[in-house]
Amino acid sequence: MKALVLSGGEGSRLRPITHTNAKQLIPVANKPILFHALEAIRDAGIVETGLVVGATADEIRAAVGDGSAWGLRVTYIPQEAPLGLAHAVLTAREFVAGQPFVMYLGDNVLLDGITRFVEEFERHRPSAQIFLARVPEPERFGVAMLEGDRVVRLVEKPKEPISDLALVGVYLFDDTILEAAATLKPSWRGELEITEAIQHLIDTGRTVRAQMVEGWWKDTGRPEDLLEANRMMLSVQEPRIEGEVDAASSLSGNVVVDRGAKVIRSEILGPAVIGEGTAVEDSVIGPDASVYFGCTVSGSRVEDSIVMEGCTIAGVRGLRGSILGKHVEVRHAQADDGMHRLIVGDQSHIEVD
Ligand code: DAU
Repeated sequence: MKALVLSGGEGSRLRPITHTNAKQLIPVANKPILFHALEAIRDAGIVETGLVVGATADEIRAAVGDGSAWGLRVTYIPQEAPLGLAHAVLTAREFVAGQPFVMYLGDNVLLDGITRFVEEFERHRPSAQIFLARVPEPERFGVAMLEGDRVVRLVEKPKEPISDLALVGVYLFDDTILEAAATLKPSWRGELEITEAIQHLIDTGRTVRAQMVEGWWKDTGRPEDLLEANRMMLSVQEPRIEGEVDAASSLSGNVVVDRGAKVIRSEILGPAVIGEGTAVEDSVIGPDASVYFGCTVSGSRVEDSIVMEGCTIAGVRGLRGSILGKHVEVRHAQADDGMHRLIVGDQSHIEVD
């Protein structure tokens, strides 16, 4: 069994963060989303892993390397443009031909990993095994219609509500999916849809099994999804204090203070994580906050937020539901005329009082 991880694409709904970052490398609970996927693949006993990469290939290569950090052997598979999930499979044709593989969308987060999915596939050996979860907004996903436990129809991003059973971004295939993908024409959104390739398998009498996902799952396509994934992953982290916490500080709940981090006269309310080398002074961090490495937070309060590497937050009364990209500065200003000073990139989102 091989793994194919899709790490191309554009992440347009996560701008401005994705102007400068691959969406799969955004940290959730201080770990890039993609690393959660690589761990799940390793835990399922898979070694050979293909990474489909696009415009952000260099950044992904720099972060993942040869995969040996996870015990994986990683092959990079450049995709000329994000022309669809089935196009990505066709691009990886040589890598996946001749044996079954798990396809993992690099922006999906699954709390319980994929080991049970792989076992389920091995037990039944269908042509395709898909996983479903009930969602409130099915129009954002591929959805499945079932008759009993048989899949009868799959539709990508349906405009009319036909089912609330969304396809989760992990699929198991044998290589008949290559033949099915080769028959496709671009959809209304100009992509070769994996959903249509699976429909083709159904139409040609192949076995397509569907199973409900019991554990928590998230497609991190939008900022609020990232924050929810962050809360979920923080709630299951292993508490660990490796940095310095002075006597005037207090920690409560599930807290990680990484190596070289300093917590001074501050309160950390778990679930929360303070990254490597980050300094927190006279501040309240958490609950549900992750502050990545090399940040400085002073005289501020941060909860339910993702703060990426190298940020400075100084004298800020409160941040909640916020996502700060790399090396962002947020400071209190002494303006007595109520004016704010902002130097922000394209498509930023700012709320001021
Ligand atoms: O998350 C589950 C959903 O993922 C499914 O319910 C849908 O049926 C499926 O089409 C997919 O929908 P999205 O519109 O959310 O897919 P997205 O464009 O976000 O791409 C998913 C991942 O695959 C992401 O990490 C980027 C990568 N990708 C995407 C495309 C279109 C590629 O590597 N190459 C591509 O050509």
